[in-house]
Amino acid sequence: MEPITRRAALGAGVGAALPLAFTAGPVAASESPNERVTLALLGAGGRGADHAKALAALPGVRVGHVCDVWENRARGLAEALSAVQGEAPAVSADMRRVFDDPAVDGVVIATPEHWHALATVWACQAGKDVFVEKNPSMTIREGRLMVEAAARHRRVVQVGFQNRSGPYAASARDYLRAGKLGRIVHVKVYNLLGGGRWQRLPDGECPSGFDWDAWLGPAPWHPYTAARHLDWHPWWDYKGGALADDASHQLDLARMVLGDPPHPRSVVCYGGNYAHHSEREVPEFQCITYDFGDFTMTCENGNATNYMIKFPQEVRYGTQWPHWPTSATRIEIYGTEALMYLGRHGCGWQVVDTGGRVIEQDKGHFPDKWHRPDFVESMRTRRAPAADIALCHASACLVHLANTSFRLGQRQLAFDAATETFPGCPEADDLQRPAGRGRYRMPDAV
Ligand SMILES: NC(=O)c1ccc[n+]([C@@H]2O[C@H](COP(=O)([O-])OP(=O)(O)OC[C@H]3O[C@@H](n4cnc5c(N)ncnc54)[C@H](O)[C@@H]3O)[C@@H](O)[C@H]2O)c1
Repeated sequence: MEPITRRAALGAGVGAALPLAFTAGPVAASESPNERVTLALLGAGGRGADHAKALAALPGVRVGHVCDVWENRARGLAEALSAVQGEAPAVSADMRRVFDDPAVDGVVIATPEHWHALATVWACQAGKDVFVEKNPSMTIREGRLMVEAAARHRRVVQVGFQNRSGPYAASARDYLRAGKLGRIVHVKVYNLLGGGRWQRLPDGECPSGFDWDAWLGPAPWHPYTAARHLDWHPWWDYKGGALADDASHQLDLARMVLGDPPHPRSVVCYGGNYAHHSEREVPEFQCITYDFGDFTMTCENGNATNYMIKFPQEVRYGTQWPHWPTSATRIEIYGTEALMYLGRHGCGWQVVDTGGRVIEQDKGHFPDKWHRPDFVESMRTRRAPAADIALCHASACLVHLANTSFRLGQRQLAFDAATETFPGCPEADDLQRPAGRGRYRMPDAV
């Protein structure tokens, strides 16, 4: 059973003619939440708990509902939230109860990734605004349906690409836009993380009070294993590997400062498990090239380089600059005049010329503190959020393009931006079909 939709009751097709690049669109004042915004959290793991506590502490915001298919988790977080906001949220294990609750204005989706697209579409259809964690989709088609659902139902859909809310990202974009790097010819995106040989978790009993069928949701059925439940990152059914996990942030930040260019014309991804020879499904290392027509982008991604570091606390929250060559999550933007080093996690950027002389710089700060309020502000004002799904869908596609190339035997694939299809490669198009199972299926019309 799909949720009954408040918007559908107002008239289907009302948003069909909206430009997809502006998700929320202007709406009547009666459609905006009141000063007091009520949110529901879907997925009470580490990230969901952080979001719920921080959002509940914002003025005029309450978390009215915590939903998790693992009931103990939802109850534990609801108790912690009572202390933050002075009232206990409702607790449920079925997100459709949340969508049916007219008091809920918006949902925060912090489930594993295979649930993101379906939960977003259902939420939009139920008239809820959405904050959906990265990577927002599992396939290109799923992402496109999220964009369409947001536009049709005039919903704010903010993606958990928080770097877009960092002032340093805006100043980097302005620097490039002013032509100060010259013509951009090449962009290098790094996600060279540490890691070891992957060990499959031993099988265990399904925990009591935990609904495995609902956790799997749209993903293919599989008997319960702790290796999938508690360690879902290495399986194609639930995530696109480290590329979808950390690299998606850098890919999105790079696209943002470049002015959100359209899709690339082609992609090729090489890689494999040649560092630790793990038996996990997703590769330990990937090297990707995207052809954007007037510049190229590469992305090196993997879990094999332990001497590289994500930016330390002093860089994220302090005034310290990183050592760029060993920064695992940096971006390098090569213009004809100078080179920009750009870091996520609030690091900031520096522009250097010959000999490494710093010409200009802007130090940042970890951007969650701007990104969550940006969502609430978008809900109230009905302006597009900083990480609008219409922009971030294209960033998520960089992950899907690369993984599609890799999974089809490391093939170079042409991509048609207008139709979001792979000319001459039906196997690649087949991989973009949204997963679905039983009642957990993408609706025919979003
Ligand atoms: N933006 C960032 O910087 C950032 C940081 C960390 C995690 N994340 C993202 O946040 C998401 C959650 O990550 P996590 O580390 O908290 O994962 P987690 O596995 O610890 O938590 C996910 C929770 O979702 C619950 N869940 C699964 N299916 C559900 C359903 N149908 N309805 C309700 N609850 C359901 C699970 O039971 C679990 O408690 C992931 O997509 C991850 O990529 C983003």
